Amino acid sequence: MSKGLLRNKKPWGGRFKEATDELVERFTASEHFDRRLFRHDIAGSKAHAEMLARQGIISSQDAHNIIEGLSEIEADIEAGRFQWRPELEDVHMNIEKALVDRIGEAGKRLHTARSRNDQVATDTRLYVREQIDRMDRLLSLVQEALLLQASERPALVMPGYTHLQRAQPVLWAHHMLAYFEMFKRDRQRLKDCRKRVNICPLGSAALAGTGFPIDRQYVARRLGFEGISSNSMDAVSDRDYLVEFLAALSLVMVHLSRLSEELILWSSSEFSFVDLPDAYCTGSSIMPQKKNPDVPELVRGKAGRVFGHLIAVLVQIKGLPLAYNRDLQEDKEALFDAVGTVSLSLEVMAGIIAHMRPREERLAEAVKSGFLTATDLADYLVKKGVPFRQAHAIVGQAVAACARQGKELTDMTFDELRALHPNIEEDVFDVLSAEGSVGARNCPGGTGFARVKEAIESASLWLRTWKK
Ligand code: ARG
Repeated sequence: MSKGLLRNKKPWGGRFKEATDELVERFTASEHFDRRLFRHDIAGSKAHAEMLARQGIISSQDAHNIIEGLSEIEADIEAGRFQWRPELEDVHMNIEKALVDRIGEAGKRLHTARSRNDQVATDTRLYVREQIDRMDRLLSLVQEALLLQASERPALVMPGYTHLQRAQPVLWAHHMLAYFEMFKRDRQRLKDCRKRVNICPLGSAALAGTGFPIDRQYVARRLGFEGISSNSMDAVSDRDYLVEFLAALSLVMVHLSRLSEELILWSSSEFSFVDLPDAYCTGSSIMPQKKNPDVPELVRGKAGRVFGHLIAVLVQIKGLPLAYNRDLQEDKEALFDAVGTVSLSLEVMAGIIAHMRPREERLAEAVKSGFLTATDLADYLVKKGVPFRQAHAIVGQAVAACARQGKELTDMTFDELRALHPNIEEDVFDVLSAEGSVGARNCPGGTGFARVKEAIESASLWLRTWKK
């Protein structure tokens, strides 16, 4: 007997004269990362064994032993007592082999009427479903922190920007709630994706289904799936749901990254709009004065990593002939890393948002320069009968004149203002202040005080009534 045959511990050994090359073993093994699916794998196997017994395909005694054995294995894994063996390739075979070692014959019957192809598809769906629910909870923490920022300072005015140039005054609360909306859509997207994730592929077997009289509906119900897949070939090779999930996670990162970018800008001395909590910043090894926004910088950087995983899975599946191909094993590291990255980013951002403090005096000062109420002056003229285009031109000239003289619109005297247009009256000063400007913007979705107060209420109602 060759050394190789002795080493060949795989259950398909019958077909092979030679043992797997050690390098190939290392190359094909996934146990070191897919072991993370052990709970899902065991849950799937238990449901499968129960069903096999109900259908009379295996005895109830065998099913009982299988289920007991699997519970013990699960406890061993959780306690760190389980001996993982890379030569057994993946999580599925590690667990199956341990079961056979533990309970003998009965363990060898578990794999009746299934294949690792429908098994891994089931495990991954169970994992993604669980992670969608976790992401939903983490997103709610970020939303709560944003809502807290908004409701603590419902009347704080700050400059709003377009092209990163001061544009119009807005409420700090309005700015916070803009992100609340983004994360709301993220949660809705994940909920939608969950519908397509929550379908049971088990019973598709290798690719063609099985000749055993299995009850797929029973297994699906036991595992909390909403239904069963309709085509066995599709079911073992479909990873669309992963693409959807990674795309939804990518958008979460887009939103976190945009918010991070703002926190980085706002905490610079150029802006000085917010103080980030010390506990979420780091110092410099050389410059004693530094307090760096490394947390939002890392979140911004990690976004790229998650987008990369989305692209990786798209590329992995685009050229695959039906049905299962081993390329599909590559989806897992991408998936796990994306999940880890996004969940940590959400947790840390929830903390930083909850504890950051806007520098109110700086914001109040900032809204006073940059001609933020120029549009309000133009709107004022319109209300006094001047066509908007003409009003726009008049105010544009006034801004240019002020800029030349180094002053703001609010520094103009009544006579200077009056010279712009004879319809201008004393009440013009009401619209030139930042508060006046904000107060006027009461259209639905606008930054007006009344609208934002309602938005705070409806955001909090949304959080309380949202069902994932
Ligand atoms: N580790 C494999 C995966 O992640 C499990 C399925 C293996 N199936 C096979 N026919 N080799 O995709």
